[in-house]
Amino acid sequence: MALRLVTAGESHGPAVVAILEGIPAGLAVDPGAVDEMLQRRQKGYGRGGRMRIERDRVEILAGLRRGRTLGDPLVLLVRNRDATLERLPPVTRPRPGHADLAGMLKMGTGDARDVLERASARSTAATAAAGAVAALLLRECGVEVAGFCRSLGEVEAASIPEDLAVLRRARDGSPFLCPDPAVAAAMKTLVDRAKQEGDTVGGVVEVWADGVPPGLGDFRTAEARLDGRLAAALMRIPAIKGVEIGLGFEAARRPGSRAHDPILPARRGGFPRREGNRAGGIEGGMTNGERVVVRAAMKPLSTLREALPSVDAATGAAARGSRQRSDVCAVPAASVVAEAVVALELAAALLEKTGGDTLPEVRRNLDAYLAAARRVFAPAPRRTSSGRRPRAR
Ligand SMILES: Cc1cc2nc3c(=O)[nH]c(=O)nc-3n(C[C@H](O)[C@H](O)[C@H](O)COP(=O)(O)O)c2cc1C
Repeated sequence: MALRLVTAGESHGPAVVAILEGIPAGLAVDPGAVDEMLQRRQKGYGRGGRMRIERDRVEILAGLRRGRTLGDPLVLLVRNRDATLERLPPVTRPRPGHADLAGMLKMGTGDARDVLERASARSTAATAAAGAVAALLLRECGVEVAGFCRSLGEVEAASIPEDLAVLRRARDGSPFLCPDPAVAAAMKTLVDRAKQEGDTVGGVVEVWADGVPPGLGDFRTAEARLDGRLAAALMRIPAIKGVEIGLGFEAARRPGSRAHDPILPARRGGFPRREGNRAGGIEGGMTNGERVVVRAAMKPLSTLREALPSVDAATGAAARGSRQRSDVCAVPAASVVAEAVVALELAAALLEKTGGDTLPEVRRNLDAYLAAARRVFAPAPRRTSSGRRPRAR
């Protein structure tokens, strides 16, 4: 069954919900592991009042028995403490940089509240919950995914640990979810200054995935190409405006001789090795067995203290855009959402490769596939015309 995610819920409604279909039976899901992801999404220096109100925790309403998935759709619910939807006033002055104006025109309403409640990034709490389940499935198949904040504005991490476990520890100790402690002070200064000036800050998030089997995704149809699917998944996160895989835009500035990764012979029992990973683990729309490396650029948040010029739908006259409670910087939170959507996309591609209704079946199929793939570059010794193997010399 294909992996499919549907989310629902208004930002100030009772809850946001994820329905995740296609997770095989037999996967142990500890709600604590989902909560870890939800709480990481709430973190990050520069978040505003909303995140001080919310205490995100998952409630798993369906699809689980005795802590293990049944193979049925999972229903993951995250309650909103700020559930004030029915009491909130209309929003008649669309905020530039938000879904408000286009949504009002599309839905034929003078009240942007009918649009912004669903367009709000609050729905990414539901996405993060689903991504945490996908990450548990991937872990059972030897795949680890980690997202982090690479840069805020002009301040970029200079040194990132190569080892994923070390990276995670460094990231989790950072108020910016950035694994380079040397840039924390400069990031704090940047956010503090923006806050003082009533401005906002964007940045770049990055996601790595280790242990990804080769051959996930497909070269045969455009919609199955994994690079396109990962790019779409990242671009669907609110405020993400650009995506790179591997060298990304840097590849366009290099000659071909310095843009690709030579292939080296396999060591005993392994796959051919690569000299580097400029491709970011993806070639021809498929994983190639190297670390998957993707980046996404987040624009500075649209809601400014001094709202930008807009028009009031109630009067038709020029007016400042409405002001809703807002963050100064949500790049760290976006890095968690990016980790979640990459986990979902990789889990979907893995299940397409293996099939399987149960986790043991998925693992069995994966092992059989990997064993066959290893034999491709370790051909059996040639037989002589008599059908015998040549004698060892
Ligand atoms: C985790 C997260 C938190 C966000 N928080 C805010 C916020 O507090 N204020 C804001 O103006 N935009 C915020 N955004 C971005 C808006 O949701 C987004 O810019 C808006 O919905 C319009 O979509 P677009 O930028 O993709 O065109 C956030 C995005 C993410 C991923």
